[in-house]
Amino acid sequence: MRLRRVGAGAVRALNRPENRLAIPESAATLAVMDFGDFDARGYRTVDVRTGYGEWVASYEDTVQDTMDIALLDRLTEPSWASAQRAADLGCGTGRTGAWLREHGVRAIDGVDLTPQMLAVARERGAHDRLIEADVTATGLAAGTYDLLISSLVDEHLSDLRPFYHEAWRLAADKAHFVVVAFHPHFIMASGMPTHYRNHAGEDVAISTTVHLLSDHVGAALEAGWQLAELRERVVDDEWVAVKPKWERFRNHPVSAAFVWRRLP
Ligand SMILES: C[S@@+](CC[C@H](N)C(=O)[O-])C[C@H]1O[C@@H](n2cnc3c(N)ncnc32)[C@H](O)[C@@H]1O
Repeated sequence: MRLRRVGAGAVRALNRPENRLAIPESAATLAVMDFGDFDARGYRTVDVRTGYGEWVASYEDTVQDTMDIALLDRLTEPSWASAQRAADLGCGTGRTGAWLREHGVRAIDGVDLTPQMLAVARERGAHDRLIEADVTATGLAAGTYDLLISSLVDEHLSDLRPFYHEAWRLAADKAHFVVVAFHPHFIMASGMPTHYRNHAGEDVAISTTVHLLSDHVGAALEAGWQLAELRERVVDDEWVAVKPKWERFRNHPVSAAFVWRRLP
């Protein structure tokens, strides 16, 4: 397995007295694991814009609410209806934005790299503003948002640190940052990247990086975030009902939700 160290900055952050989570220094090194070491499918791989630009036609029919929405439903923090202004990082077609609206979030700005996904989000109308940009450099105003959310995006980022730093820059005091991730264990155990079937019937992978849960913790703490809640979703009856082939993955963790807090 190739494991690339991408920096030891997290060690300093973990040592800050205000970071309550005690993690030994050896666990704080961020690693980027090459998905190729786990790939059991061998699909042709394309970049994010190309992949989601094609997948958009069938995305809403294939993505399962059990992956992300079911986790959002179970979080005890934040109090969604209290949020004044949210930034939805990697908003895609607006699924997350629609859920936020249903839960009382008043104003939502969405950011995404793929114009075709943004076009569907625009039609859906859950967001106040939609911006084509990278989640690591959004161009949005600093200190503006009391809620940040990013659902099913992290596996497309080669390094989590700029992502958590950008969210921190956008966050107001006492903001929450909710990150829903495709679970690294599932990517490794299934050997399956994020993928879709194109119009020609070919299964195509979208560039995928494996981030351990500890990589999220290291990158978030380095940026200044404090962990408020972490939930993992396993393949259960509900999952097997929508994906019978996943019986072989029963009880494997498939997704995770982190809730980070910015304390003043
Ligand atoms: C699996 S979709 C998730 C969309 C939405 N959050 C949802 O839950 O349905 C991933 C989205 O992240 C976007 N994305 C991936 N990497 C990105 C980046 N670096 N900056 C902005 N958007 C990105 C893709 O264009 C795609 O729309």
